[in-house]
Amino acid sequence: MESTRNDLIELLEKNKDDYVSGQELSRQLNISRTAVWKHMKELEKDGYMIEAVSRKGYRITQFPSKLSPNTIQWGLHTNWIGKKIIHREQVDSTQIIANQLAREGAEHGTIVIADEQTAGKGRMSRPWHSAKGKGIWMSIVLRPNMMPQHAPQLTLLTATVLAECIDHYMGVRPSIKWPNDIFIHGKKTAGILTEMQAEQDRIQYVVLGIGINVNQDEHDIPPELRSIATSVKQETNQEWDLRESIQHILSGFEVSYEHYMANGFAHIKQTWEKYGYRIGETVTVETLQRTWQTVIVGIAEDGALLIKEEDGNVDKLYSAEIQW
Ligand code: BTN
Repeated sequence: MESTRNDLIELLEKNKDDYVSGQELSRQLNISRTAVWKHMKELEKDGYMIEAVSRKGYRITQFPSKLSPNTIQWGLHTNWIGKKIIHREQVDSTQIIANQLAREGAEHGTIVIADEQTAGKGRMSRPWHSAKGKGIWMSIVLRPNMMPQHAPQLTLLTATVLAECIDHYMGVRPSIKWPNDIFIHGKKTAGILTEMQAEQDRIQYVVLGIGINVNQDEHDIPPELRSIATSVKQETNQEWDLRESIQHILSGFEVSYEHYMANGFAHIKQTWEKYGYRIGETVTVETLQRTWQTVIVGIAEDGALLIKEEDGNVDKLYSAEIQW
């Protein structure tokens, strides 16, 4: 039943600008025309809008906004990312599933996405709150042909894709806080977790985890995080369609990834620095050895933060507490 329905959606999607006759659908799916009609009624209950015109046939005019591989792929014009989508209503963490699928050979560009995560993972083993239907909780499996030491560039690339999507599509300018947090009006809105399996000179796979707080109201954010975390909705006073937002991110990601693979890191560096948080400003930095004031100037090819010391020298910072 489920698989016939998916085949039906696929057939209608392939011919989305045209009507497909009941006869043709019944022939291709090997079911009666009455069964085709019943499936259409079920699709309408699921939120699909179907136009039925006598002597022409059926056409989907609108997909439901709830997430599924079909609804995400409808209108997604990418060549390889999201060709395979695994969607679950509830998971512990999309990272766990994506890592497992990658170990089992999942193809480059596979997406794992969930409405809700019960054990979402953040960087440095922190939990990541992933309330049901309120944000984008997704992991992308990549098989890049590159050296493992360049993997941090993929995280920086992803940060620029998220920043551009929030800026251009959602209409509010975010900043990227080193290494890869997305902030809006001084509060964290999205984060990226990169996990990798590699040999010395070759990446087997990378799992890029993206978490974006999209439609949380203030009361959806745990009280202890309210002063430091926000959602796009709170900062734009507008509810966002998750399906469309995901499509923007996936197409932006594919374009940016291909440009990076063909031309290198320069464009990512430029975009990262355009959105970089407090670039050109003085901050206090603390390492195990010392605490001092320095000016942030940008990002290096290896993901280090570039800082300008008092003597004018530009240094690289790999890990430090920064008092933003
Ligand atoms: C961070 O800023 O600490 C990174 C947060 C990453 C969260 C995403 S949500 C989808 C994917 N699954 C997880 O468990 N974590 C990442």
